[in-house]
Amino acid sequence: MNILGIETSCDETSASVVQDGRTILSNVIASQIDLHAKTGGVVPEVASRQHVSQINGVLAEALAAANLGWPDLDAVAVANRPGLLGALLVGVSAAKAIAYARRIPLLAVHHIEAHIYANWLVNPQIAFPVVCLVASGGHSEIFLVRGHGDYMILGRTRDDAAGEAFDKSARLLGLPYPGGVSIDRIAREGRGNPKAIALPRAALGPASLDFSFSGLKTAVGAAVRASASQPLSLPDWAASVQEAIVDALVAKTLRAAEQHNIAHVLMAGGVAANSRLQEAMQAACAQAGLRLTVPPPRLCTDNAAMIACAGFYHWQAGQIDGLDIDTLGSEALA
Ligand code: KG4
Ligand code: ZN
Repeated sequence: MNILGIETSCDETSASVVQDGRTILSNVIASQIDLHAKTGGVVPEVASRQHVSQINGVLAEALAAANLGWPDLDAVAVANRPGLLGALLVGVSAAKAIAYARRIPLLAVHHIEAHIYANWLVNPQIAFPVVCLVASGGHSEIFLVRGHGDYMILGRTRDDAAGEAFDKSARLLGLPYPGGVSIDRIAREGRGNPKAIALPRAALGPASLDFSFSGLKTAVGAAVRASASQPLSLPDWAASVQEAIVDALVAKTLRAAEQHNIAHVLMAGGVAANSRLQEAMQAACAQAGLRLTVPPPRLCTDNAAMIACAGFYHWQAGQIDGLDIDTLGSEALA
C-alpha cells in the first residue's frame, strides 16, 4: 500500500511516499526558511506563491526518490486543515488532481493529527492509551490518544504556542528566524547558563494542564531593556528562555500522564525537535518510570511522511474522502 503524502500548510512544500504506514520510501521537503528569514516570519501570500512554484518539482522528486511511477500509488493523503488557506489550497489542488487522474482514494488529514502520527513512523506498535505533547509554531496541546483517530484534549495554551514563544523571544534577542532553531543551537554550542536570567513559569494552578507563554515574552522584552547597559551573553539568554519553555512543557506533560495513569509519552511538532526539551523530557520520564517516544527532528517539523502515515490509518478505518473536500484555516483536533 503506497500512499503519497502532500504537506503545504505553512512554509514547507513536502511530498513523500510511505509504504504500509511505516516504511518511508521518500520524504522530500522544500523549505521556504531562507525566503521568510528576510521578513522575520511567514508572509502568507509569499508562502502560497512559493508552494505553487515548488509543488510539481517536489512531487516528481518524491516519486523518483521512491523509485516509483504514478501507477504505483494506491492513495493520496493531503493536509487540508488547519493552516494558511492559500498555502493549503496548493497541496489540496494537487492531491485532488492526482486522485482524479489516477482514480485512487483521497485522504484528507488534519495537520496536528499527522504530527502525532510521526510517532508511528518510529514505532508502529505503540500501544494505546498514550499521552502526546504537540508543540509547534501554532500549537501547544496535550492529547490523550485512546485509539487510532480517538483524541481527547487534556491541556492547551491559553495564549501563545511554545514555538511562538521561542520565535518571539528570539526576535527580541535579535536572533534569526526560525527562532526556536537559533535558540536551541546558541544555548547548546555556547553552553549557556539556564539560570542566568530569572524568567517566569506560569503554573495556572496545581492541577492545570494548560500553558501560558505570553508572560514569558513580556518578561524577556523587559529583561532585554533592563540589561541594555550591561549586556549578558547570548548563550545565557538563549538557555534561560529555552529552560522556561521546556520546564512548562515537561511539567504539564508529566502531570497529564500521572493524572490519567498513562505509561507511554509521545512528543510531536517542531518544538519537539528541541535538544534540551528531549533531554529534559527523557530525564523526567525515566524518573517517573514512563516510556518516551520522540520522532527524529526531520519528522518533528513539517513533512509529508507524517501526512501519508496518518492517511494510512484513515484508509485502514475506511475513512475515504471525496473530491469535494475543502480547506480550513482552523479546526480543533478534539
Ligand atoms: O511543526 P512546525 O514545523 O510547524 C508548525 O506546524 O507550526 O513547527 C515550527 C516551530 C517554529 O516555531 C520553530 O521555531 C520551532 O517549531 N522549532 C524549534 C526547533 N525546531 C523548530 N523550537 C525549538 N527548538 C528547535 N530545535
Ligand atoms: Zn506543523
